[in-house]
Amino acid sequence: MNILQINSSQRRTASQSTKLADRIVRRLRDTNPDAALTVRDLGANPHPVLDEAALTALFTPAAERSPEHAQRVALDDALIAEIQAADVVVLGVPMYNFGVPAQLKNWIDAIARAGVTFRYTANGAEGLLRGKKVYVALTRGGLYRNTPADTQVPYLRTVLAFLGMTDVSFVYAEGLSMGAEAEASALASAHEQIEEAVAA
Ligand SMILES: Cc1cc2nc3c(=O)[nH]c(=O)nc-3n(C[C@H](O)[C@H](O)[C@H](O)COP(=O)(O)O)c2cc1C
Repeated sequence: MNILQINSSQRRTASQSTKLADRIVRRLRDTNPDAALTVRDLGANPHPVLDEAALTALFTPAAERSPEHAQRVALDDALIAEIQAADVVVLGVPMYNFGVPAQLKNWIDAIARAGVTFRYTANGAEGLLRGKKVYVALTRGGLYRNTPADTQVPYLRTVLAFLGMTDVSFVYAEGLSMGAEAEASALASAHEQIEEAVAA
């Protein structure tokens, strides 16, 4: 089993979403001790934004790319290779201003490549990253689960399904900025959700 862990908090040691993602990986490895793990920390190693230079590089045929173009495309290629090789993907996702962190969006922009991770057919779009299990550890200061203010879950469900990843379990830790008691109870609940998710 190959596990790919993507951390998107900009905090290193204090990140609750990274701690929850770590816990999911630990629990998966309890039952799969030989599982290989690749960790990509988008806070420590930010991926470049999809700007005009990147788009030009991506849309230039490989044989015609300048060294700078090739270098830029290679950065995305590395992320695509990692997710193609993964059987299980674990995402640590804080809520930043009602959305996913910009770094996670940059990662998604990098792995979504027509003809490689999805393709258009006569029947519509088809995801090519199939057969993967995805766990998402969500952390929020407030409470948004199952409300219209939670743009993260519908967005992640949609884009992951578009790429072929339809087996997704979400673990919520909410109310982390609502006092020590609320935080402790949110984390205890998240730990229970992890046990249920890995046992499923
Ligand atoms: C820049 C920034 C924006 C945030 N925006 C929101 C928000 O819109 N809604 C919310 O509930 N919490 C928000 N929070 C709180 C974080 O979601 C919460 O602290 C979470 O634990 C951060 O994840 P981390 O512990 O993995 O870093 C924000 C925090 C930061 C630093």
